[in-house]
Amino acid sequence: MNAKQRLIRFFTLSAVGLLIGGAIAGGSLLFQKNEQITPSRIVAKGIGGPFTLVDQNGKTVTDKDYAGQDKLIYFGFASCPAICPAELQKMADAYHQLPKDMQAKIQPIFITVDPERDTPDILKDYVDMFLPNMVGLSGTQAQVDAAISAYKVYAAKVPEGDGYTMDHSSFIYYQQARGEVVALFRTTDKADAMAQLIQEIQTEK
Ligand code: NI
Repeated sequence: MNAKQRLIRFFTLSAVGLLIGGAIAGGSLLFQKNEQITPSRIVAKGIGGPFTLVDQNGKTVTDKDYAGQDKLIYFGFASCPAICPAELQKMADAYHQLPKDMQAKIQPIFITVDPERDTPDILKDYVDMFLPNMVGLSGTQAQVDAAISAYKVYAAKVPEGDGYTMDHSSFIYYQQARGEVVALFRTTDKADAMAQLIQEIQTEK
């Protein structure tokens, strides 16, 4: 190998190295970009299940009453000072960002983790503050416990002053009509990202 051949070989190997390095860098950029677009996409096996609860009009309902629709579901309690109202407002904001035909496919649902205080009457006024078509579900403690367990929610009564508050996990579930929970929205997810992911999910169907 003479000097010229060695030089050519050096540049060839360098070019190959740059191409491989570029591909890796490009791939990881793409991966990061995708992660940003769909921060909450999950395959949640075993989350969600049958429930029997009481709606804000005092009517006993089951999961079958909402079986034909996709659902946005949030578990919380009406006297929650900050997190629950913020998350329900975010759900409403995301819902309003969707095209009307996509809105029509979704039933927004609030399920209380505090049935002792959240009677149907209380929930009627509460859900109405966020979306006129939001359903507010309560029930006996046993009925609510079963729903909490089906959606793997954490909820616990914590003494506060003369009474109590509720400590609880905070996720907005997107559950498809056929039953699968396909997205979990966290408190850090913004309404526009949520609306974007819901549109992607509905478009895939
Ligand atoms: Ni709360």
